[in-house]
Amino acid sequence: MVAQNTSQIRRRLRLGMVGGGPGGFIGAVHRIAARLDDRYELVAAALTADPSRNVSAAAELHIPRGYGDFAQMAAAEAQRADRIDAVAIVTPNHLHFAPAKAFLEAGMHVICDKPVTTTLDDAVELAKIVQRTGLLFALTHNYTGYPMVRQAREMIRDGALGNLRVIQVEYAQDWLATPVENTGQKQAAWRTDPARSGPAGALGDIGTHAFNIAAFVSGLACREVSAEVTTFVPGRRLDDHVQASLRYEKNVRGTLWASQVATGNDNHLGLRIYGDRAGLAWCQERANELVFAPLGEPPRTIARNGAGSLPVAAHASRVPAGHPEGYLEGFAQLYTDFAEQIHARLEDRPADPTALLVPGIADGVEGVRFISAVLASSQNNSAWTALPAVAS
Ligand SMILES: NC(=O)c1ccc[n+]([C@@H]2O[C@H](COP(=O)([O-])OP(=O)(O)OC[C@H]3O[C@@H](n4cnc5c(N)ncnc54)[C@H](O)[C@@H]3O)[C@@H](O)[C@H]2O)c1
Repeated sequence: MVAQNTSQIRRRLRLGMVGGGPGGFIGAVHRIAARLDDRYELVAAALTADPSRNVSAAAELHIPRGYGDFAQMAAAEAQRADRIDAVAIVTPNHLHFAPAKAFLEAGMHVICDKPVTTTLDDAVELAKIVQRTGLLFALTHNYTGYPMVRQAREMIRDGALGNLRVIQVEYAQDWLATPVENTGQKQAAWRTDPARSGPAGALGDIGTHAFNIAAFVSGLACREVSAEVTTFVPGRRLDDHVQASLRYEKNVRGTLWASQVATGNDNHLGLRIYGDRAGLAWCQERANELVFAPLGEPPRTIARNGAGSLPVAAHASRVPAGHPEGYLEGFAQLYTDFAEQIHARLEDRPADPTALLVPGIADGVEGVRFISAVLASSQNNSAWTALPAVAS
C-alpha cells in the first residue's frame, strides 16, 4: 500500500493554559473540552500562582513547557517558532485581565473564562486591545455550546415564536447555602472575596451565565434593570442571591434570578422565552430536550438529533439521539468552533459561520455592564438603572 501524502493534514493547534493547577475546577474541564474533538494539544502552562510548583505541576499533566508565571510564559512563547496559537485563562476573576492583555500583546489568541474582568474599565480596555491586535478572543459562556440552546436561538431567528414578549431566566445552586468559604474550600474562598471575585458574588459567578444565555437565545440587548442583590449567609462579603427585572429592546420584559443558596438545586439553569405565537423552554439539567409550545397546541418536546432537531443542533452534537450529551460536550463545542476560527485565519479563508457563535469580548463587556447596572440599582433601592454606556 502506498503511504498517503500527509502534508495537507491540519496540525493540532498548540494551546497554553494559565491557571488550572492541582485541584482547580474549570481548568480540568477546559483541558477535556480542548481535547474532545482532537483539535488542540496542550503544550505550555503556568498552572498556579506559585512559580516553584509550576514546572512539576505541568509535568504531572504531561505538559512539556511549564513556566513560573504567565508573564514569563507570554514572553518566552512569543520567541518560539512553535509558539502556542492560543492560551486558555482559567484563573480566578481578578486574574483574567493581566494575562489576557499579556498574551494578546505577545500575538496569541485568547480563550478566557467569565466574568471577563472585575471592572468595566478593564473590560473596555481589553476590548480595545482585542481590536488593536486583531486577534481572536473567546469567552467561555459554555451554555451557548449546547445543541438545543443553539436550536432555540435558531428557532427564534426563524420566527417560530413570533414577536417576543417575555424572557425568564434562572440559575439556582445551593453549594454556598452555608459559609463553606470558612472551611478551606478554595473555590468558595475566592468567590466570596471581593479582592479576587470582584464586586459581585453569585451575580458575577452564575448571574452572568444567565444573562448571557438569555441574550444569546433571544438575540436581544438588555437596556435597563431593577435589581436587588442579597447576602443571606452571615459574615459573607459578597452577594449570594440576586433577583432582577429586565427591560430589553423591542419592549420585551424579563426576569433573572441567580442564587447560590437555593436549597435543593445543584445546577439548575433554566430559560423560558415567550412570543405571541409560541413559547420555548430549556433547562441545563435536561439539556438534550427543548420544549416548544405553539399557542393553542399541546407542547412538544424536541430531542437533540430527533425529529424536528435542526442542523445547527446537529453541528454541535457528537452522538445520535438518545445518547445524552451535556456539560463537557457543550464546553468542547466552544473550543472546536474557536479552532475553526483560528484555522480559518491560518488558511486565509472565511470561517464557517457556525463557528462565530462562540461568545467573544463584546459579550464579556455586556456581562460586566450588567453587573455594574445590577449593583447600582440594588444600591439605589432597586431603581430602574440603564446599563452603563461604554465608548466604542
Ligand atoms: N464557564 C463555567 O462554567 C465556569 C465554571 C467554573 C468557574 N468558571 C470560571 O473559571 C475561573 C476559575 O474558576 P475555578 O472554579 O476553576 O477556580 P479554582 O480556584 O478551582 O481554580 C483557579 C486556578 O487558578 C490558579 N491560579 C491562581 N492564581 C494564579 C496565577 N497568578 N497564575 C496562574 N494560576 C493561578 C489556582 O492555582 C487554581 O488552580 C473563574 O473565573 C470562574 O468564574 C467558569
